[in-house]
Amino acid sequence: MELFGFDVRWTLPERLLSIEDYRRAARRRLPAMVWNYIDGGADDLVTLRDNRSAFDRWSLVPGVLKGIEDHDTAATVAGIPLALPVLLAPTGASGMAHWRTDLLAAAVAERMGTRYVVSTASSWSLEEIAEAAREAHLFQLYPRAGTVTSSLMRRAWSAGYRTMMVTVDVPVKGSREGERRTGMRGNGLPPILTPRTALNFARHPRWTYDVVRHQRFGGYNFVEQTGIAAAVESLHIQERELMQSTLNWDDVAWMRDQWKGALYLKGILNPEDAEQAVRLGFDGVVVSNHGGRQLDFAPASLDALPDVAAAVGGKAEVLLDGGVRRGSDVVKALALGASAVMIGRPYLYGVAVSGAAGVRHVLEILREEIVRTLTLMGVASVGDLDRSSVTPRHHEF
Ligand code: FNR
Repeated sequence: MELFGFDVRWTLPERLLSIEDYRRAARRRLPAMVWNYIDGGADDLVTLRDNRSAFDRWSLVPGVLKGIEDHDTAATVAGIPLALPVLLAPTGASGMAHWRTDLLAAAVAERMGTRYVVSTASSWSLEEIAEAAREAHLFQLYPRAGTVTSSLMRRAWSAGYRTMMVTVDVPVKGSREGERRTGMRGNGLPPILTPRTALNFARHPRWTYDVVRHQRFGGYNFVEQTGIAAAVESLHIQERELMQSTLNWDDVAWMRDQWKGALYLKGILNPEDAEQAVRLGFDGVVVSNHGGRQLDFAPASLDALPDVAAAVGGKAEVLLDGGVRRGSDVVKALALGASAVMIGRPYLYGVAVSGAAGVRHVLEILREEIVRTLTLMGVASVGDLDRSSVTPRHHEF
């Protein structure tokens, strides 16, 4: 309706324009403990914050009048052609954001021309996710020398997963005080129910109805049945079996030997570790500090990226995750040596706000922002980005 020259409506048509908009909307929709579980970080949140601010320290180098019509966002990870250089990172217990997160994330990822990385601590079993999907997704392994690991690797292979990421930055769980203060246990699930947390659930009836009814908290790779008892049992198995500080390079060399598909190490920040991964025949490394959830004061992923990429020297693929919230962040990571990035929290915000549509919109926002950034920079394709596409930002912080 038009009135005095205005386009009059009840609400603005588009309120969710950025990943940050989804973040704020997700915060309103989730009980405090779940919000803190998803959005929180280790100790004083220094690394969590640095993951974001590291992107602010780089400027993009624009070029004008290039006469480019189409801008190409295609990339390849582990031989898989992707329409978008953005994978969905593994997030355990993602069923807390939306009870069907694993299935929706895999379905949306493949529709958008990318892939989902299924966590060892997923809320649906790796077989259930593979059966529901049309494409082969990636599997993330929490390593342990022993039977749980070899059985997970066998199961992942027979369910059709061909690319595996071994996460090596969790020898012990980081301390995320925010989530512990609001009802998550320091050593895993299930959440603690107190009158206060119950009241908080009651204030979020839609979340409570869906998530509590379906009990898809996490850990379904270890138990057959669902429900609270299964969740408890599986998480006790995880606690016992999944984090092992005695793990060493021999253990991952054994995994390299056993796994016939592409193999990545996730959680690499030190160039020497990257060199060792290359020597052992890994296909790639993921520069990551686990989204600032493990070692506080670990360097920001983007800060660690150039040296790791130099150490790898093109002999393996380099991916990055941590703090990617804008298309320009993706462009900067690719310019500094990554061949693709992964996002963790952003798709959890999306799924918490509006299920599959939310995940899809988050990826669409990033795609549009990448294309717009390339266009404004005068760069035809993400493959053309290199160190000359960025420059340190001269700015007082
Ligand atoms: C994670 N991450 C993670 N990583 C992993 O290898 N296995 C896992 O099970 C989990 N679980 C998990 C849960 C939640 C709630 C979050 C937020 C993260 C880390 C994840 O894969 C990725 O490294 C970070 O999330 C990337 O940072 P951003 O994009 O969240 O800033």
